[in-house]
Amino acid sequence: MRHGKVAAIALMCLAAASCREGPASRAEPARSPSPTVAASSATRDEHSYGNPEEIRVTHADLDWDVLFDRRILRGTATLSVERPAGGRATRLVLDTRDLDVAKVEASRAGPSWASAPFSLAPPDKFLGSALTVTTPEDATRVRVSYSTRPEASGLQWLDPPQTAGKKDPFLFTQSQAIHARSWIPLQDSPSVRITYRARVRTPKNLIAVMSANNDPNVKRDGDYDFEMTQPIPSYLIALAVGDLAFAPVSRRAGVWAERPVVAAAAREFGDLEKMIQAAENLFGPYRWDRYDVLVLPPSFPFGGMENPRLTFATPTVLAGDRSLVSLVAHELAHSWAGNLVTNATWPDFWLNEGFTVYLERRILERVYGSRRADMEAVLGLQDLEKEMATLPEKDQILHVDLTGRDPDDGFTDVPYEKGALFLRQLEAVYGRDRFDRFLRGYFDHFAFHSITTDDFVRYLRANLLDTDPRLAAKVPVEEWIEKPGIPAVAPRPKSDALVLVEAEGERWRKGEKPASAIAAGAWSTQEWLHFLRALPSPSPPGRMAELDQAFRLSASGNSEITNQWLLLSIASGYEPAWPRLEEFLTSMGRRKFLKPLYEELVKTSEGKERALAIYRKARPTYHPIAVATVDKIVGWRG
Ligand code: BES
Ligand code: ZN
Repeated sequence: MRHGKVAAIALMCLAAASCREGPASRAEPARSPSPTVAASSATRDEHSYGNPEEIRVTHADLDWDVLFDRRILRGTATLSVERPAGGRATRLVLDTRDLDVAKVEASRAGPSWASAPFSLAPPDKFLGSALTVTTPEDATRVRVSYSTRPEASGLQWLDPPQTAGKKDPFLFTQSQAIHARSWIPLQDSPSVRITYRARVRTPKNLIAVMSANNDPNVKRDGDYDFEMTQPIPSYLIALAVGDLAFAPVSRRAGVWAERPVVAAAAREFGDLEKMIQAAENLFGPYRWDRYDVLVLPPSFPFGGMENPRLTFATPTVLAGDRSLVSLVAHELAHSWAGNLVTNATWPDFWLNEGFTVYLERRILERVYGSRRADMEAVLGLQDLEKEMATLPEKDQILHVDLTGRDPDDGFTDVPYEKGALFLRQLEAVYGRDRFDRFLRGYFDHFAFHSITTDDFVRYLRANLLDTDPRLAAKVPVEEWIEKPGIPAVAPRPKSDALVLVEAEGERWRKGEKPASAIAAGAWSTQEWLHFLRALPSPSPPGRMAELDQAFRLSASGNSEITNQWLLLSIASGYEPAWPRLEEFLTSMGRRKFLKPLYEELVKTSEGKERALAIYRKARPTYHPIAVATVDKIVGWRG
């Protein structure tokens, strides 16, 4: 049974929320962070072995040596635990994957430690191994001495040639969804929030940064201390070590990157402060103190990761013209949706990402205008429709069923774009003013808590839908959340700018004008993407060559345009693009680009050979998460 006292408290608080009359925005004071009241009663996280309903981890004290030569972290995790009032549990269950546990000790109040019996279960393919520790019933701390393994799924160890500086190694973590357990033994569920401190020892010339209080003026001495005083879920614990430098953008925002990259990165993200202010005006104060972006080496498998106070970002967004900074707006938006109000389990992932995409476009609209935001929304809907057509019905559902699956499988455009469309419909039906007030109330009400889809729906009914049942009748909530496909009432984002692009493309396609006369002089990246997506696929190689000559697309330095052009080139058999294709696939490891490009390649037997030849070279440079994805696509057997 997973219904302890903690759950009962949470249930009361939620009931109070839904019983309250009128919109939540009638200023309820922000709650102070409380890691003990986390998720609702029904929360059962099937992707964690942890037993927080019996004993809950509330804080971690971490201490590591970063051993680059052996590719391991070695040290201790000291976990503070709490039992629900009256609870006397003596069994603490933690998540681990590929950890070598040397010893476990427990402590009652005070400094004395006694060895504690533990057992490590055989590993599950997705979930890793449960670590069960037997403690005295009044133990308040448990200390695990352990090392990670070189193949830890949440760590990537880079050799100097894989970095921009080429001289020093680099380490970074990626914990979402369930990879924190491969480098820290803990209750690896987003329903469990903890504070943490860390001490990290590195080679003397390198700098360590974490999702915590990074000091822009830190002394480079190989010994670093961190503290995160706000309770966060384990998937937001992050660490990077390398030859880093910092450049400020404003008083509270800046950029970390390898030294050769930092100046360009600071220029690219020069609008950070404007974005933070736009977000604060819309959704309430930024509650995490500093907001910095860490630009990682190119093998980072994602576009961005919203590690609190320190977003991790791919260098493939450094286009030179700020055209790909919607990624930063997205990760920043997670400071409200995701980091402040967190999905309690992975089937609730759409609460993180759908809200964030909606917020991201609102920020873009404020900072860059509605022309830009509309284009992004149209491109987002295209992505969704294209992917939806390939997904089984069960994966078209927002509140997705992940039973027996790796939560990384839920990573499709559905939680992102369908989630955002749902909120857009609520905005359209209730009007911006009311919807914005609702959103601010939602972030305030659930701040520093982890919630399920049901918690959201209850809150939505009480604080928006039930305030105007006539309007509520227009919003098929159950269909949006639990049914496949896109509801017929979904809004259709429109962009006049992109309509013009289509017309221009048509004229060229019909032979009414040559490529050199296409009025693309002032096209933004988004307009180019739309133009390329609308071309027939395949296109005759002669036509591809004409475009390439006019616009030098094979030489583009913009990763999104390159990706789109290469997809079309593969489908069209346009051979002059092959060298660029190989260069692109061997110089970065962002899964968003790798996945479609390898998928397009393996459609023909000749393409599959080319894919395998490239992959053989590139695979050792990709992140474990990207390797897992591409292995499946190309049928890798080593
Ligand atoms: N939190 C996600 C990244 C993530 C999701 C990592 C699930 C692991 C599991 C991040 O905020 C994100 O959505 N990144 C996107 C970019 C964004 C602009 C849509 C990405 O990396 O593609
Ligand atoms: Zn996101």
